[in-house]
Amino acid sequence: MNPALPSTPLFDRRVLLIISGGIAAYKSLDLIRRLRERGADVRCILTSGGAEFITPLSVAALSENKVYSDLFSLTDEQEMGHIRLARDTDLVLVCPASANMIARFASGVADDLASTVLLATDKPIMIAPAMNPVMYANTATQNNLAKLKERGVMILSPAVGEMACGEHGEGRLADVMDITKSVVEYLGVFGPLSGKRALVTSGPTFESIDPVRFIGNHSSGKQGHAIAAALARLGADVTLITGPVHIPPPRGGKTIAVVSAQEMHDACHKNLPVDIAVCAAAVADFRPEKHSDSKIKKSGNDGLTLRLIQNPDILKSLCQSAQRPKLVIGFAAETDVNIQSAEEKLKRKGCDWLVLNDVQNGAVFGSDHNAFSLITRDHNGQITTENWGQDTKESLARRIADKITSSLARP
Ligand code: PMT
Repeated sequence: MNPALPSTPLFDRRVLLIISGGIAAYKSLDLIRRLRERGADVRCILTSGGAEFITPLSVAALSENKVYSDLFSLTDEQEMGHIRLARDTDLVLVCPASANMIARFASGVADDLASTVLLATDKPIMIAPAMNPVMYANTATQNNLAKLKERGVMILSPAVGEMACGEHGEGRLADVMDITKSVVEYLGVFGPLSGKRALVTSGPTFESIDPVRFIGNHSSGKQGHAIAAALARLGADVTLITGPVHIPPPRGGKTIAVVSAQEMHDACHKNLPVDIAVCAAAVADFRPEKHSDSKIKKSGNDGLTLRLIQNPDILKSLCQSAQRPKLVIGFAAETDVNIQSAEEKLKRKGCDWLVLNDVQNGAVFGSDHNAFSLITRDHNGQITTENWGQDTKESLARRIADKITSSLARP
């Protein structure tokens, strides 16, 4: 990710991307990724010209949204009429904008879905022209662009360089990162954690016994993922490192999927330095000493003895790292909740805060709700405990993110 761009300023922002026909259409796929990485919800219209260069399937896969292309599609009109499509967005972005698309837009033609939407929208419009340099320099194109500019359309000038057709000049699609930057500058919301980097661990770890079996636990990742989303919503550049879960990655930020504790440990350290680390994952303390490459067979009536060895303690290692994050938050899942031993755990691990979960009878795991004690230690070593009552994991995550924000704001 380009460090010059904050990671999730487009959180909750919607971009309607119109992809018209031109060799640069393939670059719109990367643009979709970049916008989504920054939290945007990207919906796409692929023109018939655009579909000559890229497929609706790749656009749908990258945007994780339905792709629209037909003005007269009965199903699309029933689900989302073209007028709603034109209005239900924060920005209409045409990339690449071909000479033909620009000419039709400038003259008010509305004979396909893309041109109709451009005429019907009441939202800001940004276009990124891309075409042969002679076509770009042509008075007709320049007049059309001037007309659009006069009507308030934002134009992202093309770059100068070698074209796919072999000619050289002005007409290459502007760099995808520059287009992303323009969208961020225009549409971005810079939250209080903007410029801060956060690492969040979530979910269980699976410790493999043989190709079929593993040692795992019941963590669903709901609490950790909700914290990652809440931090991203406040503008933090979030890296979520998650064990195997069945929930989708949160919008915004980067998600790294791992399986074992050792993999989670390595991924965490690889992603330092960060300002904030939240270790919500339920990491297996032990793993089998030996992994069998083939399925362990049952032999007679004998049981099976597995020798387990300790996994690295990720939370502790982050606290002891030379790149220790400014704020490190651990979690504890206990069946016999005891504030005093939780305080000792906080000191033993070396973290600043500890979220103490009561998981008696399997509570908390997989649930949408939670309640916990939050133990905090300030820079003078003063320990305080707060009890946070039952609420949704999302709501508790937002409160934790707000508390992190206030804590980092203090000198
Ligand atoms: O995922 P959900 O279904 O939403 O459930 C949420 C949760 C109960 C899993 C979560 O909120 C929680 O409590 N996670 C911590 C569970 C746990 O592993 O607790 P622990 O007491 O064993 O570990 C204490 C801390 O050390 C944790 O921050 C843990 O991430 C960390 N740890 C533990 C072992 C290890 N080898 N490395 C670690 O970093």
